[in-house]
Amino acid sequence: MQQTTVGVSLVGCGSAQLSVALSNEDLSQMVETSDEWIATRTGIRQRHIATGQDSLSSLAARAGAAAIEMSGLTAEAVDLIILATSTPDDLFGSAAQVQAELGATRATAFDLTAACSGFVFALVTAAQYLRTGVYQTVLVVGADVLSRWTDWRDRRTCVLFGDGAGAVVLQASDRDRLLGFEMRSDGTMNGCLTLPYQSESTVLIDDKTAQKGTYAPIDMNGKEVYRFAVKRVPEIVEKALFRANLTTQDVDWLLLHQANQRILDAVASRLNMPADRVISNMSRHGNTSAASIPIALDEAVRNGQIKPGDVVASSGFGAGLSWGAAIFEWG
Ligand code: ACO
Repeated sequence: MQQTTVGVSLVGCGSAQLSVALSNEDLSQMVETSDEWIATRTGIRQRHIATGQDSLSSLAARAGAAAIEMSGLTAEAVDLIILATSTPDDLFGSAAQVQAELGATRATAFDLTAACSGFVFALVTAAQYLRTGVYQTVLVVGADVLSRWTDWRDRRTCVLFGDGAGAVVLQASDRDRLLGFEMRSDGTMNGCLTLPYQSESTVLIDDKTAQKGTYAPIDMNGKEVYRFAVKRVPEIVEKALFRANLTTQDVDWLLLHQANQRILDAVASRLNMPADRVISNMSRHGNTSAASIPIALDEAVRNGQIKPGDVVASSGFGAGLSWGAAIFEWG
């Protein structure tokens, strides 16, 4: 195998369209809330939810196929698929199912779990394989179906989340367009945002028991997560920019995990970035966890906002707690 250091280019993006939209009005018939409360506190107007026909892997494969098509490559050219998700169809992992659905016969595939930071963590992971020359082409998919694990009676959380999938194709290139990155975790704050396993004892034989259970719905201390995001995200974007030898003046677009419009506004303000350089699509999609950054990227590229050569500062943050930033030049 080749072992030279090479650069990384982002050469294609894609996302999966989901047909069922759940509006704030719909939610206000399910729990005590209102369009006014949700829109004012979060910026969200609607979110999409997966139907019985949509598996996590089928959504991920649709997004991946669109990204591969934009890149001008074929599925057979992909060496590695990294699927960032917290909601696999199968706890053993769903990336291999995505590989099969795409017909990416040469690709090795694995899942990566880091909640809403998953896409940025997967992007950085993919870059390491490219930079060492081990692989030439990597597909990174961020996909989540949080509707499976949402407590639809809990108005504090059910108004926030949506389902979706987005993807990018990365290729080895002479010039490195992943300009800088930084990643962090803080497990001492794990309890702020959880989707925990809950076990029940099952007696096997005599005094020997196994713990067999399921996962409890998403639970979140919204205020703590909000405070964490507003403090840590500007810091990590600044650190990633420092590694890239850039400042916010050099950034064309701030592309944050779409958690809450107020978080986006506060982070942009701390970074002194004007609102017209902040990508936001959460009014239509809500918080789609690992999918939110690649969906927003795909929409912004396809509608002509993000152009080849533009510098994008992306940052994911969420459960773990985890957070990360990646500065890249598109195209
Ligand atoms: N509709 C109406 N009222 C509501 C709703 C609702 N959907 N939800 C909460 N309320 C009420 C509360 O009960 C409370 O009422 P009270 O004052 O009588 O007790 C009041 O509204 C204020 O509630 P707060 O929780 O203080 O509202 P806040 O302004 O903090 O907004 C929110 C809540 C939107 C959840 C915010 O804290 C937030 O966005 N946090 C960050 C969440 C996040 O970004 N998560 C990202 C990571 S996701 C991942 O990694 C999977």
